[in-house]
Amino acid sequence: MDRELMKKVAGQEAVKYIKDGMTVGLGTGSTVKYLLDALGKRVAEEGLRIIGVPTSNRSAKRARDLGIDVKSIDDVDHIDLTIDGADQIDENFQGIKGGGVAHLREKIVAINSAENIWIVDETKMAKNLGSFPLPLEVTPYGSTHLYRRLEKMGYHPSFRTNAKGGHVLTHADNYIIDLKLGYIEHPHQLEKILNNMTGIVEHGLFLDVVDKVIVGHEDHSETFV
Ligand code: 5RP
Repeated sequence: MDRELMKKVAGQEAVKYIKDGMTVGLGTGSTVKYLLDALGKRVAEEGLRIIGVPTSNRSAKRARDLGIDVKSIDDVDHIDLTIDGADQIDENFQGIKGGGVAHLREKIVAINSAENIWIVDETKMAKNLGSFPLPLEVTPYGSTHLYRRLEKMGYHPSFRTNAKGGHVLTHADNYIIDLKLGYIEHPHQLEKILNNMTGIVEHGLFLDVVDKVIVGHEDHSETFV
């Protein structure tokens, strides 16, 4: 199974939805990297004029290196389309994101976009959400107490750490707590609970956000609307 090829197939299919003159939200991650490569090629070869709104410093740098114009979300008045990856998508096209630490910016860009497309390799599709740990961006202040509360609630939290054992930091210098839930029976109920917990800046449940999902296989893509 060649997952890189599957990601590339999805990225190359998604780039077809980008039209001249659009303002495009650019997601984050290894699948989006293939989208950016394909988009850079169109900019160079076709003279496509678009404005990219990157959701991470990584995507901003890569886009600039490829000759794609980028602006901050606060410097554009609308976003026509956002194309992003996802960590897990269930059969109702609800998603978990944040494996790449960027879900706060990704959610802000997504909810301000007229249309959202997710690009994934086939391994990301699941019947239910939850086998992929659910990321929470949390404020460092009080995070040990929040952690204990999440533990008592049975959510099996763990702080995300780097190779040196320190906290992984988000763009806003917050921490990440991953919840090992196994199976999320009622995503909307969980969303409400997490939305109401002080100290959680944003969680990685992306419910009722996506308009199209492009699934990459080794030799073709499938598009779900
Ligand atoms: C980053 C994300 C990414 O979209 C998600 O982790 C998918 O990344 P990849 O394409 O590398 O698997 O949510 O916060």
